[in-house]
Amino acid sequence: MAFDKVYQYNFPTTIRFGPGAIKELPAYLQQNNLKAPLIVTDPNIAQLTFFKTIVGDLQHKNISAEVFQEIHKNPVKSDVYKGTDSWDNTNRDCIIGIGGGAALDVARAIVLRIHHREDLFKYDDLVGGDVYVTNEVPHFITIPTTAGTGSEVGRSAIISDDDTHQKKILFSPKLIAKIVFADPVLTMDLPPFITAATGMDALTHNMEAFLAKNPHPICDGIALEGIALIKDSLEAATNRPDLESRSKMLIASMMGAIAFQKGLGVVHSLAHPLSSLLDTHHGLANAVNIPYGMRYNISGFEDKFRRIARTLELKEETGEAVVNYLFELNARVNIPHRLRDIQVKEEHIEKLADLAFADFAHPNNPKPVSRDDFKNLYAAAL
Ligand SMILES: NC(=O)c1ccc[n+]([C@@H]2O[C@H](COP(=O)([O-])OP(=O)(O)OC[C@H]3O[C@@H](n4cnc5c(N)ncnc54)[C@H](O)[C@@H]3O)[C@@H](O)[C@H]2O)c1
Ligand SMILES: [Fe+2]
Repeated sequence: MAFDKVYQYNFPTTIRFGPGAIKELPAYLQQNNLKAPLIVTDPNIAQLTFFKTIVGDLQHKNISAEVFQEIHKNPVKSDVYKGTDSWDNTNRDCIIGIGGGAALDVARAIVLRIHHREDLFKYDDLVGGDVYVTNEVPHFITIPTTAGTGSEVGRSAIISDDDTHQKKILFSPKLIAKIVFADPVLTMDLPPFITAATGMDALTHNMEAFLAKNPHPICDGIALEGIALIKDSLEAATNRPDLESRSKMLIASMMGAIAFQKGLGVVHSLAHPLSSLLDTHHGLANAVNIPYGMRYNISGFEDKFRRIARTLELKEETGEAVVNYLFELNARVNIPHRLRDIQVKEEHIEKLADLAFADFAHPNNPKPVSRDDFKNLYAAAL
């Protein structure tokens, strides 16, 4: 695969992928007669040079962007309401999300809210709220700046309750971006820790999707190729980044999000409570838990693990070899092996197990996970 130009993929939406793709944004807006975008990002990205260049390039073409950046690390409902106020007060005609999963999720939730003004969590997919997503949505464009969640190609936004910190999922096929500008150059300066944590999130998506219980050979094929791309590139992208490793990670992260339409599993259910309770970064929470969660899944699914081991080109084609690979990969990209290294304490385990058991991801795990299983998994990882 050569990463020397911009390619177009139309699956699951139009993706302009390659170095320089971002330069096409002003012309795309002009062609679509869009002159007043609301850009949704986070306060950190808003300070970065590439972000200022994007806004400057738009201004140069007489496109005046309003930037909304007041979002939390783990986004909450009030972030979405404030962003909607920004739309209401400034007469906008489209929404551009620029950032990692956090900014893209808030952007997508604002897209929903523009013409759906009931309480945001009425639309929570977990209680069947997707049926209320009936009105049109504004023109939505996504621009990823991390290679992890793949939220840029997703149809859902994860937003937490401000008070309870419970995560809600807003979902509708209407929420998919009309176009994605996926430019690996924007990810070149991601710091090593964020590269590693977000990259392990992408690996978790691909692995959990491959193992998820519903039959879906299309997603399985994408997931295995996603795993292969991450095997080739995560360590390099973290420790000695170049365009090739950044490109492979960016496409693999989108593949993970495409594949996990099939479902996720036990690792994401272990991870989500760490973010809601302790504000742990989503990717880091997955990274620390993935070897333990995968070990839990081996028995009964040896064939599937054999296929993962083969994809990873491991000497031994077994589940234990996959688990060892995950511990070693974490070590190579400086992710700790134990939950105690990321501020988890023994007294957290009961609450974490309650939240993990209530989480939406594990019903798609290849085998059932009980509350006691979650307790044991946290204890093993502590
Ligand atoms: N919608 C989905 O399908 C989905 C799936 C998984 C996770 N999520 C959500 O995504 C969020 C996590 O997203 P994430 O892992 O991308 O992290 P993030 O969006 O929180 O970004 C991590 C950090 O990296 C910084 N950053 C981003 N791009 C950068 C760049 N190019 N250079 C330097 N710094 C940069 C950000 O400012 C932030 O501080 C969580 O809120 C999680 O719930 C959503
Ligand atoms: Fe994830």
